[in-house]
Amino acid sequence: MKTDRTKNTSKKHTLDSKLVLHKTSKGEIEKGIITLKSGNGMYIEDVDGNKYLDMESGITRPVCLGYANEYVAKAVYNQIMELSYATPCGRSNLPAMELSERLSKVAPKNINHFTYESSGSEAVESAMKLARLYHSAQGNKHRYKVISRMGAYHGVGGMGLRALGLMTPMRHSFEPLTPGAIFVNSPYCYRCPFGRRYPDCNLECAKEVETRLLFEDPDLFSAFIGEAIQQGFGSYAPPREYWDEVRAICKKYEILHIDDEVICGIGRTGKMFAAEHYDMEPDLMTMAKCISSGYVPLAAVGISDKVYDVVDNFMHLHTYGNHPVACAAGIATLDVLEKENLIEKSNAMGKYLKETLADALDKRPSVGEIRGTGLWVSIDFTTNQETRAEFPMSNLNSIITQALKLGYMIKAMPNVIELAPAYIISKENIDDFVKAFTQCIIDEEKRMGLAK
Ligand SMILES: Cc1ncc(COP(=O)(O)O)c(C=O)c1O
Repeated sequence: MKTDRTKNTSKKHTLDSKLVLHKTSKGEIEKGIITLKSGNGMYIEDVDGNKYLDMESGITRPVCLGYANEYVAKAVYNQIMELSYATPCGRSNLPAMELSERLSKVAPKNINHFTYESSGSEAVESAMKLARLYHSAQGNKHRYKVISRMGAYHGVGGMGLRALGLMTPMRHSFEPLTPGAIFVNSPYCYRCPFGRRYPDCNLECAKEVETRLLFEDPDLFSAFIGEAIQQGFGSYAPPREYWDEVRAICKKYEILHIDDEVICGIGRTGKMFAAEHYDMEPDLMTMAKCISSGYVPLAAVGISDKVYDVVDNFMHLHTYGNHPVACAAGIATLDVLEKENLIEKSNAMGKYLKETLADALDKRPSVGEIRGTGLWVSIDFTTNQETRAEFPMSNLNSIITQALKLGYMIKAMPNVIELAPAYIISKENIDDFVKAFTQCIIDEEKRMGLAK
């Protein structure tokens, strides 16, 4: 180890922190944040030469192919030399068309049209606007509301932010927001918001959707937005009946279903889209992150035939929409996923990760639940196994810091440590990580007095 990995003190870093407005507090920057320099496969290196095994695909989870995939790099280079830019306004381009053809083959069968953006937030904006246009085109201009869930994250755009039910300070800092977002509870059985235990819960969380709609007037709603498998409480996959029930309610009141697959899409959950786990055919579907393995900014909205057929002119133009280079990166990413059979492999690695964690952590007093689908696994912590009491964030952060010192990048959010490594991860990587991680947890339990 070259320096303390948690305190990056190189000269380059000091310059950088003054010049860049980092997306973190000034206090964090004062303490010293890591400046990343290079990446290869599963590993990243900082400017001081410290190496880290990236267990979170870049923390925000896009780097599904690992770093520096040459095939994607070449595809991007080639596209820049062929056609580096094409306006999305009244012109088409070949990579956008080809990517759409490729996606339509792997998306739910009703999703056959795509529009491209640069971030998941923009994809959410587009999806919400398309939902409104769908209703307006049929004379229902008044359907301005959306229904979202507490615990949801749908990005930082005007429409997405109003539907954001997680990290509420993010909302509160920018009030007033675009009006019309209504929230229900999320399905989170480990700490059920209704104090119930599945399956004897009458699916209260799904039923609440109808109660809320009736209270608010269902005729005012354009869409329900939700992640098929939700990040907010740690890669939470609801029981199948949850989505059956929610989708039936949406259908009853002619409310469109937007499936936000910004994280859970493109193989993260062991299938191309998480919707497949539930046999869902949403009306609109957002995707981003793994769509280009995070190499260049790319996001997409998958549009069902039902919506496409009635929307005449999607007046939502921005310079980088349908960008040919970004779309070329998307095509190349799909090529690698398919040629190397990476989604199937990642599914097997996800199972191995869960099993290895369970073997190592099942008896730990602070580990409440280990769950996950595909290579998206979460460890839900508690200070009391019986009551499932919440686990202090400061102790989770301490585990993260210890792991970082040992060379492992992971991420914490309330109660949960989430793992979402690249699909190329090996069993050796997993074994190394779980061994170090277990020790970090044991050390923290001792500091907390939960273990001797
Ligand atoms: C489900 C979901 N939707 C939307 C977004 C916003 O995507 P982006 O950060 O690319 O704007 C995110 C980001 O994490 C997300 O998890």
